[in-house]
Amino acid sequence: MKADGVQFCGMDSLRRSHACGEIGVGLVGSEVVVAGWVQRRRDHGGVIFVDLRDRRGIVQVVFRPETAAAAHQLAGALRSEWVILAKGVVEARSDETVNPRMETGEVEVNVRELRVLNSASAPPFPIEEDSGVDESVRMRHRIHDLRRPPLQRALAVRHVLSQAMRASLCRMDFLEIETPMLARATPEGARDFLVPSRLQPGSFYALPQSPQIMKQLLMVAGYERYFQVARCFRDEDQRADRQLEFTQVDLEMSFVSVEDVLGVLEQVTVDGCREAAGVELPRPFPRMTYSEAMERYGCDRPDTRVQLELVNLTDVFAASGFKAFRGVVESGGIVKCLPVHDARDLSRGQVDRLERFVRKELGGKGLAWIRVEPDGEWRSPIVKFLSEQELREIAERTGAKAGSLLFFQADNAERANAILARLRVDLGERLGRTDGRAWDALFVVDFPLFEKDETGSLSYVHQPFVAPLEEDIALLEDEPEKVRGTHYDIVMNGVELGSGSLRNHRSDVQRRILGIMGYSRDEMERSFGFMLDALEVGAPPHGGFAFGFDRMAMVLAGAQSLRDVVAFPKTQRGQDLLMNAPSTVPTDQLDELSIRVRVAKPQ
Ligand code: AMO
Ligand code: AMP
Repeated sequence: MKADGVQFCGMDSLRRSHACGEIGVGLVGSEVVVAGWVQRRRDHGGVIFVDLRDRRGIVQVVFRPETAAAAHQLAGALRSEWVILAKGVVEARSDETVNPRMETGEVEVNVRELRVLNSASAPPFPIEEDSGVDESVRMRHRIHDLRRPPLQRALAVRHVLSQAMRASLCRMDFLEIETPMLARATPEGARDFLVPSRLQPGSFYALPQSPQIMKQLLMVAGYERYFQVARCFRDEDQRADRQLEFTQVDLEMSFVSVEDVLGVLEQVTVDGCREAAGVELPRPFPRMTYSEAMERYGCDRPDTRVQLELVNLTDVFAASGFKAFRGVVESGGIVKCLPVHDARDLSRGQVDRLERFVRKELGGKGLAWIRVEPDGEWRSPIVKFLSEQELREIAERTGAKAGSLLFFQADNAERANAILARLRVDLGERLGRTDGRAWDALFVVDFPLFEKDETGSLSYVHQPFVAPLEEDIALLEDEPEKVRGTHYDIVMNGVELGSGSLRNHRSDVQRRILGIMGYSRDEMERSFGFMLDALEVGAPPHGGFAFGFDRMAMVLAGAQSLRDVVAFPKTQRGQDLLMNAPSTVPTDQLDELSIRVRVAKPQ
């Protein structure tokens, strides 16, 4: 075969002796065979230099007409991303040609024999650390993207992490057991992906949102310690930390307390981080209750490296002359403040931009602020509405002093907290208010079992199988919002890495909880009948956890998005731009599944 007049070869008996990244001074004088992709070719007055890349790194291979005339002539045709095999001798570079930015920069391979194994079309962007192109271009050309060093590193981190977590769990006597992909709906709160059944026309499987029910059934069946590196499917809106399909390191244990499970989780996290990122996490992990996290940080996954904290001022504004705030408090909302001290660097223009951002992007009603000038004067659009007493309270509780800037949110608790939590991290990072630690792992514990949604009806905070604390079971019917659950999360660097709980192993408690959630007896049987039955055949006390494996890889690889640690991710619109999925299918395939498609025409 020929391309651009170049004769392609097979590898024949020639085999790679070393990876490109392995070529170093220790090999000077040896004959080596290297293979890979042409990163770059340069012609320097008769001598041709090629940077050759494989998975392990890049090495310079040199074609000199006087050493190997045929190879040199062939090298003249090489282009980026062509695939070659080259045999030559490792030579030390002269002092002035050593490249200190290249790991193999002290040597080069003086080529004697070249085989062109394949040509390649021109790459759509440079195969470099930063491709400099839009993400959609990277997604469409994912193969080229995957050749870039950050993705190569991220997928290697993923591999090591999964091996390390597996090994850690195996050492602790967990059994790896697979559960079905073609299953029934699991109540993790997202929409299901449905798969039509050909053999049962009109019926559908649901792809698992998690192996939750299956792993509980395994506990009832007596497996005691289960784990699985499990694929999960959730049809939910895509964000940087959510994918339609993702991986959990899922586990469940019998005859355990919360402490027993947390001990295992800490061990697995420490082992995983040590192997995958060389990080030695300090033990024991700090613990924070859900209510403390919400009060001080405004979210249940705080990055405690950021040294800014929220202050609750709801009671201060309960009878305030500032109607906007008093009104919020009267209708059950809260007023919280984010004090930023020594904030002289934040200009009025930046504060106005923040206010616009809060209104436009975060759905807030505004962003009231007070700045304490160097002379101690309080400047603000709202001080004129505030009494002496209120100002004194604010100063005392926030520690306001010359140079401080106070940001306020008055809104329902959920939105006020969410907005201030976001500002806390953004401003903390922008102003360098972090404690300098690279890694921050903690447990968040003591989540409530139920919460009221916007309509005032009760919903579960996590999922319906979470067991209440033993001593709170008596409160279930009369004071459900006071019932504490056994739920716990692991949070690292502000990312929820995973969550779990003890489960309801007694069917009477499980039925009571479903009842409080508004399930009728019929609905309970229909949705969870097999689960409730299983709790009646000898279910041991049990509990477990699921690590969001992709998120863990993202944090450890220092990536900003799951799309940078998943080989073939979906875009925000749920598409795979490389293979063009999802796609329509031929009618006969639909007929076989008894499906007729009706797509509403866009208005
Ligand atoms: P949960 O729904 O909290 O719990 O999921 C556990 C962890 O999985 C990760 N995760 C995701 N990662 C990427 N994309 C998504 N769409 C996505 N959704 C969740 C998160 C999360 O913390 N069955 C329970 C676990 C248990 O109780 O044992 C469950 O699935 O990191
Ligand atoms: P107004 O009186 O509406 O002009 O608001 C005065 C200041 O308070 C402005 O800076 C608004 O952005 C801010 N503000 C108004 N309502 C709220 C609210 N609910 N939470 C936080 N700030 C607010």
